[in-house]
Amino acid sequence: MALGVRKLSYALGAEIMGLDLRKPMDDATAAEIRKIWLENLVIVIRGQEITPAQQVDFGRHFGPLDDHKSLPFYRLQEHPEIFLITNKEVNGKPSETKDTGRLWHSDHSFTTRPTMASALYCREIPSVGGDTVFTNMYMAYDTLSDTLKGILDKLEAIHDITTYAPFRKRNPEQVAEMHRINPPVAQPVVRIHAETGRKALYVSEALTFRFVGMTEEESRGLMEFLWEHSVRPEFTYRHQWKVGDLLMWDNRCAMHMAPADYTPGEPRLMHRITILGTPSGRVYQEAAPQKAAA
Ligand code: OGA
Ligand code: MN
Repeated sequence: MALGVRKLSYALGAEIMGLDLRKPMDDATAAEIRKIWLENLVIVIRGQEITPAQQVDFGRHFGPLDDHKSLPFYRLQEHPEIFLITNKEVNGKPSETKDTGRLWHSDHSFTTRPTMASALYCREIPSVGGDTVFTNMYMAYDTLSDTLKGILDKLEAIHDITTYAPFRKRNPEQVAEMHRINPPVAQPVVRIHAETGRKALYVSEALTFRFVGMTEEESRGLMEFLWEHSVRPEFTYRHQWKVGDLLMWDNRCAMHMAPADYTPGEPRLMHRITILGTPSGRVYQEAAPQKAAA
């Protein structure tokens, strides 16, 4: 089956036409979607009316799904593979996921098995805004000088969920618990994509503050340059959602963020599935302080 494809921006993103995800998908179609996704980093399939079970079935064509133990908030009872991202009250309380993704990040980079892909299905969206922005981290790497590439190729950076600014506002017990579930992880600054073999930059303003072996002060200048460089407008695509959009991105070579660009009282509800990736990085243990010479 030849699917229709339409590019959504210069840097990344493609819409795929001609799919009805209520119907079972054959392996050849899944392989074609995967190819388009690997080339475009973000794919959008519009106008879908699918159940949670159908969203889960779609995800399983691309790999095993995460049960979201590293972020234990809202999952659908019958489908724990589906994680709810919403600003609506849950059980009469303000939503824990209402500020998800406000800063640029790659999902679960703070674990040693970061996700390969995430897919959001839009169920409710404000009258204007509620967008998600994506950036191409192959381009971010490719456009650096050879000298800086050579330096970065050898570095690791520390990814730590508890440094995520909106997280720091939570109560200390919750932060300590998150730290226990997700200890800091050292990841390569330049990741080699397991399928395309291409190099992509892998640091983010949400989760990465310093390089392994350097202090935060020493890291700051270069880190800030990389955060800014990674999200130059020409590397990005901004998705304006419609109810029924299913959008899947590649966390190995793209970052994303969700600006607070809508009236807070207007409901926004996304159902997310997360497809597991291959192991990357290592749990980071601070070296013991060096004894001063006697
Ligand atoms: C995510 C995320 C952003 C959004 O699902 O990982 O960051 O637009 N979501 O809801
Ligand atoms: Mn995210």
